[in-house]
Amino acid sequence: MTDESAGSEHRPTFLVTGATSGLGEAIAAQLSERGARVLMGARTAERGQAAADRIRSRVLDADLEVAVADLSLMQEVRSLAYQILDSTPRLDGLILNAAEARSELVLTDDGIETNFATNHLAGFLLTHLLLPRPRSSTPARVVVISSSVHSQVRMVDLNSVVTGAPLTPDSYRTSKLLNILFVQELARRLQGTGITANAVDPGFVRTNLGRYSTGRRRMLVTLTHPLPSSPERAAITPVYLATSSEVADVTGRYYADGHPKELSGLAANARLARRLWAVSAQALVTRGLATLNEMIAFG
Ligand SMILES: NC(=O)c1ccc[n+]([C@@H]2O[C@H](COP(=O)([O-])OP(=O)(O)OC[C@H]3O[C@@H](n4cnc5c(N)ncnc54)[C@H](OP(=O)(O)O)[C@@H]3O)[C@@H](O)[C@H]2O)c1
Repeated sequence: MTDESAGSEHRPTFLVTGATSGLGEAIAAQLSERGARVLMGARTAERGQAAADRIRSRVLDADLEVAVADLSLMQEVRSLAYQILDSTPRLDGLILNAAEARSELVLTDDGIETNFATNHLAGFLLTHLLLPRPRSSTPARVVVISSSVHSQVRMVDLNSVVTGAPLTPDSYRTSKLLNILFVQELARRLQGTGITANAVDPGFVRTNLGRYSTGRRRMLVTLTHPLPSSPERAAITPVYLATSSEVADVTGRYYADGHPKELSGLAANARLARRLWAVSAQALVTRGLATLNEMIAFG
């Protein structure tokens, strides 16, 4: 990361992953409009700079810094976290937004299914490694972007989380279920610390998310959602959860359209959430991608 932030330590600071397009870029722009300093997570420096330039053209005093990492690769997640710890004295909010929706099975260089690596494991690891910053900046907030498609998942084999095999029955949808389970267990572990954690369904949004989806899945999504909303509109609820005093004490909830929604089925299963936490830590440690010490950050 480049240090363009001299003199801006007093600004509330947020990391937004996947800030180079769609919802993440809109969230970064709206946080900038509110005077926040934003670390813009980007897969490449070029895409990060291009998105930062677009925001600066609209928000003249935007305080932006590009934070580069391919989040499907846990070594890059680690480097990103340690660079932020080195260069950023405070972190008031962590918006875990980056996601891929590949319909083909693609394994990462770590041997982990890509949607699962980017959409769940990267956020899980990043939250552990960055925890000292929100802890020293309380009150602080974690917001995880999930999706209503989580409710279509009828079974989840958590052994796949350890082995890195594809999640069943659909790895993107399952990863969005894992986002909610992660938030609930995170909120439980953060009780009383001054850090809240909530999940959001942004609705169906016109973005680049479908670019790796093929054939039937893509057609089905287009037919069932003829009227997508704009990224700017979809960013309102995540930004509300990240900044509004109205929800300062709200934690462990799932929001859509500005309101909390009741969870049901697998998403409401606290035992599954605890087991997910354990197997995610195990998957990272057994692969040498995290240490035991790092994984006990939350006790
Ligand atoms: N669009 C919808 O209808 C919809 C509905 C429900 C939930 N969501 C959720 O909304 C969130 C944002 O998605 P979006 O719709 O805005 O899609 P998007 O336009 O494709 O944005 C995804 C962002 O994540 C980044 N990203 C993906 N893989 C990455 C990786 N391996 N490393 C680093 N960055 C990576 C992308 O970077 P690149 O630009 O480099 O690819 C991009 O900035 C996701 O969590 C998604 O599940 C979207």
